[in-house]
Amino acid sequence: MVEPAAAPLADARGRVVTDLRLSLTDRCNFRCTYCMPAEGLPWLSRPELLTVDEIDRLARVFVGLGVTEVKLTGGEPTLRREVVEIVARLRAIDNELDLSLTTNGFLLERFAAPLREAGLDRLNVSCDSMLRHRFEAMTRRDALGKVHDGLAAAEAAGFSPIKLNCVVIGGTNDDEVVDFARLARRSGYDVRFIEYMPLDADHAWERAKVVASADVRAAIHASFPLVPRERGPEPASTFDFADGAPGSVGFISSVTEPFCDSCNRVRVTAEGQLRVCLFALEETDLRAALRDGRSDDELADLIRDAVWRKWAGHRINSPDFIQPVRTMSAIGG
Ligand code: 5AD
Ligand code: SF4
Repeated sequence: MVEPAAAPLADARGRVVTDLRLSLTDRCNFRCTYCMPAEGLPWLSRPELLTVDEIDRLARVFVGLGVTEVKLTGGEPTLRREVVEIVARLRAIDNELDLSLTTNGFLLERFAAPLREAGLDRLNVSCDSMLRHRFEAMTRRDALGKVHDGLAAAEAAGFSPIKLNCVVIGGTNDDEVVDFARLARRSGYDVRFIEYMPLDADHAWERAKVVASADVRAAIHASFPLVPRERGPEPASTFDFADGAPGSVGFISSVTEPFCDSCNRVRVTAEGQLRVCLFALEETDLRAALRDGRSDDELADLIRDAVWRKWAGHRINSPDFIQPVRTMSAIGG
């Protein structure tokens, strides 16, 4: 157990950080068009990555500062050799810690059961199309079958509820949103529709390709009436089916309804850079601090300082928006 902090990890605007997203690797076995270029990116070398001990230590410092939720991300986190060990180490920090992992599902058939045994609470699986060839066009991998197998393994391992993340891109997969709602009803999954954000390597993002959550919600509501669930700390707004069918749909409306005012998260990249916003242009080098032999208190002060300076919010909707150099894969969703 880690003693909770005396003061919450807050910024100058009064937002409190309770959610840490830790990227385990920048590598990925997919090449989603809205994230990576077809040829991949120059990957980090092994010594550049935080080690398992460094991840464990940092996570302890964050938990000591009041973080209650850790999400493991990538790249693709199951490509990190020690992913199961890392889950077990984080689980050992605190039994109450909410531990989840976001994956593209490709390797879940192999990893679902061991991850569950190591103490992972929840899984988010990305899936943007249920049509094989469209899935291939969007991820540049003919892998829908493997993702289905992965989902089945996740269910068999006892993960519930399973969240499915679907990035909606106008003219690409927006005709499938009602089918995804149908899938939620059939499987009991929580399907979450994510607005397309300017974090792609190819800089192909255009406003015209963003499908507003309100439109997705209306399209689903016309087929399957929805009732809003009371809003929690999550950026997603969640809706149940009015007829009591299982599953739910949620909306992450980063572009059309930014939730920066209630943002409770920070990110640490695979090489130990703290990012207090997905769209931050500045980072804090926690790896250097770890490797310089700083104490836990010094690390905590560094983190507190960076969080305190967190800006009001992203400026996607402003003409002076600057896209961060890092893609989603190098930040961690
Ligand atoms: N816009 C919105 N979501 C994105 N993701 C990756 N790139 C983008 C983008 N440009 C999503 C992935 C995954 C999560 C980690 O982030 O689909 O579900
Ligand atoms: Fe890989 Fe996720 Fe990026 Fe797709 S969105 S290329 S699965 S990191």
